[in-house]
Amino acid sequence: MDQDPKRYTITAALPYTNGPVHIGHLAGVYVPADIYARYQRLQNKDVAFICGSDEHGVPITIKAKKEGITPQQVVDKYHAIIKKSFADFGISFDNYSRTSAEIHHKTASEFFKKLYEDGKFIEEVTEQLYDEEANQFLADRFIIGTCPKCGFEESYGDQCENCGTSHNATDLINPRSAISGNKPILKETKHWFLPLNEYEDFLKQWILVDHKKDWKTNVYGQCKSWIDDGLRPRAVTRDLDWGIPVPIKGAEGKVLYVWFDAPIGYISSTKEWAEREGKNWEDYWKDENTKMLHFIGKDNIVFHCIIFPAMLKAEGSYILPDNVPANEFLNLEGNKISTSKNWAVWLHEYLEDFPNQQDVLRYTLTANAPETKDNDFTWADFQARNNNELVAIFGNFINRVMVLTDKYYEGIVPNAGPFSEVDEQTLSELKAYPTVIASSLERYRFREAQGELMNVARLGNKYLADEEPWKTIKTDEERTKTVMYVALQIASALAVLSEPFLPFTSDKLKNMLNIRSNATETSLKWDDVSSKSELLNPGHKVDKAELLFSKIEDEQIQQQLDKLQASKKMNEIANKKVTSQKETIQFDDFTKLDMRVGTIIEAEKMPKANKLLVLKVDTGIDVRTIVSGIAESFKPEDIVGKKVTVLVNLAPRALRGVESQGMILMTENAEGKLVFVNPGEEGVDNGATIN
Ligand code: 2FM
Ligand code: ZN
Repeated sequence: MDQDPKRYTITAALPYTNGPVHIGHLAGVYVPADIYARYQRLQNKDVAFICGSDEHGVPITIKAKKEGITPQQVVDKYHAIIKKSFADFGISFDNYSRTSAEIHHKTASEFFKKLYEDGKFIEEVTEQLYDEEANQFLADRFIIGTCPKCGFEESYGDQCENCGTSHNATDLINPRSAISGNKPILKETKHWFLPLNEYEDFLKQWILVDHKKDWKTNVYGQCKSWIDDGLRPRAVTRDLDWGIPVPIKGAEGKVLYVWFDAPIGYISSTKEWAEREGKNWEDYWKDENTKMLHFIGKDNIVFHCIIFPAMLKAEGSYILPDNVPANEFLNLEGNKISTSKNWAVWLHEYLEDFPNQQDVLRYTLTANAPETKDNDFTWADFQARNNNELVAIFGNFINRVMVLTDKYYEGIVPNAGPFSEVDEQTLSELKAYPTVIASSLERYRFREAQGELMNVARLGNKYLADEEPWKTIKTDEERTKTVMYVALQIASALAVLSEPFLPFTSDKLKNMLNIRSNATETSLKWDDVSSKSELLNPGHKVDKAELLFSKIEDEQIQQQLDKLQASKKMNEIANKKVTSQKETIQFDDFTKLDMRVGTIIEAEKMPKANKLLVLKVDTGIDVRTIVSGIAESFKPEDIVGKKVTVLVNLAPRALRGVESQGMILMTENAEGKLVFVNPGEEGVDNGATIN
């Protein structure tokens, strides 16, 4: 879209309500979307920033089964948590809805019916995977198997989390049921398919030609690869009992595929907002002068660039997204973020540990945004970004300006005298920043944009350091006034330009500078920084300084690292494969075993046998020969003198012609290495019985 759009419809992926949201969600989708929406509002643009909870789909049913509650209880719980987290982090949605809302059921049903009545679907009886034990068809995440594309063995039925490929459940190799673990059978069932192959020409033109240049290479590349692989009809209905009922005769017991209803959630959420605000929702979805953008993570690309546009095209009256600025994934301390492994920083927990420090996280996540490749969040980097950048650059500049203004002028913006060349140069650099930052934002380069914002603070710091008002105040009061006037202009510019990135800081700063929108002056907009001759007039009274950022100490960081280590430990325990318990024996059976403490007194390799050592063991009863299969784990010289546990009444048997008269008890350590079963504290004599 070249011309200036009339309005913006900005959507952010509807999060699944099967768990809380973590830093990966924030970095990949919600912070960049929020920066963009806030920036456009500051440009006086008409913006609808839309989101809501994705409350259907198999993950929710699975979670409900696991927790022994209903899917409705699951979605109610997480919808509330997620909605609160977004609000707490200043994600400024115009509307946050949910797909269980009546308006959504109605909108999605009508959308389906229109496509059905217009003959856009193929109706077909096909064989689908079925779990005989659970008595149900296995759709999407109910089925796990090997990805036909990349060989990942834990791929879901609808999408492989390893390579991102979207497929049909029947494409999986060695499928197994996520409910019972059983091998599914094939059973006939009727479904409705959207023939994506019929949209191939349209998608080729729209993506591969029209958007070749302006879409991110990761997005374009994924789309090209799907289109090149050939598109196939895709089922948009499912045999499940949680979802929106398929609204036609003959489809009883079936629901809409979650990826059919979820993107329609953007439309229903817009309708909900428009009704409340007295707007016309169609302006935001059907007018060619509207710029529509979908902010998503990379696993959602196929749904937003291929399937949803095909649905919109089939319906016929909708506009298509202008861009889909999908991000890659954020890792945490070198490992993939995982809800099930609790390897995550949960937003609600972060706020408990770092109250009122939302902007520090927003800042760090943007500075490390996975815009072109997967990226890593580390607590050390978080601390460094806060201490070395937010505190030392941004906070330091503002603090100096506020303290000096208070000290020299009791908070009144002084009159400027004639500008020096440095002043002129500084002010003209300052006025260029709105365009510089905007240019990055318009190209969805949020890291770059935020870097430029910090350059505004750097400009201020350098100016103060060079002009030294704390020195000139003793020699040249007029010059000091000019310097402080210029510094105050930079501080106000920061208050405006930081708003998309650091909304809480911007708010505080506007309060300090007394330029809140509800204060006497009208609120400053993005372009005012370039176009207004001054942002703060001489005579304007600013308020007292507040601390914008505070240092984060090593102990706080260590606490977070310890928390992650604890998760790791819990996982190791949970994932440990323990051999299942053997059948119950009676006490008498146990007393038949005669186990003694012994000491290995000689050890040598069994000739021509890789695994066997011939040991002489002092059992307290006697010194006997025991042949043990431990040669690959121990050198003979290392085990002489070792205390061991010996089963002494095991019937002797010959191994390679040597009679073994007992057995040394062994186990494996966490690395799978053989170790002796320690017979107890030192000082236990050979021959002591173990019982
Ligand atoms: O990946 C997810 O979390 C999905 N719930 C995103 C849905 S986006 C949209 F289409 F609703
Ligand atoms: Zn794969």
